[in-house]
Amino acid sequence: MEYFIDSASIEDIKEAAMLGVLDGVTTNPSLIAKTGRPFATVAKEICDFVKGPVSLEVVGTTAEEMIREARELRRYGSNVVVKIPMMSEGLKAVKSLSSEGIPTNVTLIFQPIQALLAAKAGASYVSPFIGRLDDIGQNGLDIIKDIVQIFNNYSFNTKVLAASVRHPVHVLECAKLGADVVTLPVKVIHQLTKHPLTDAGLKTFLEDWKKVKA
Ligand code: E4P
Repeated sequence: MEYFIDSASIEDIKEAAMLGVLDGVTTNPSLIAKTGRPFATVAKEICDFVKGPVSLEVVGTTAEEMIREARELRRYGSNVVVKIPMMSEGLKAVKSLSSEGIPTNVTLIFQPIQALLAAKAGASYVSPFIGRLDDIGQNGLDIIKDIVQIFNNYSFNTKVLAASVRHPVHVLECAKLGADVVTLPVKVIHQLTKHPLTDAGLKTFLEDWKKVKA
């Protein structure tokens, strides 16, 4: 399973690289807005630093606008994956972009059939938002299970990118269910390193070390 960083902050991205868990990056318009910096500056900085795929999202709402934006976004780097919202116009854009060889990530997926449609249109990735489903009382992990099964049934190459991941149990379950990628805030990566027995064990080792004669 690959680890992407769900952030537009270059500090977060560099931190993940130092931790050895930077297979790629996902952004969205809200994450870009959070940086308070111009889109072009942020996009260039991320694409120059990251070797793996970087998802940059279109904001047009017609297929024509999305296709035009996609071609512009690809100027930031050959690693740019164009993030397209799940909607009919989005599917038209995905179909056309995939025939041009431009990779796409269909975002805002909340039910498995949306993912199947995106895969049929030629999407490179689908992004089911598990945390936001949990937020409204639906088990977000169910959708990962269903999409993985559907894609296996029909041998789609489209990757399942679990998004809106909020905590370590999401990551564990995604790995067990066979998600290809999880995209995480850096905070969750730090949470993944933790266990109370690790902390207690280290404390004891360091205390005992003081008793060792030089
Ligand atoms: C995915 O690509 C999205 O950027 C992201 O995971 C959304 O997460 P959120 O629900 O925490 O905003």
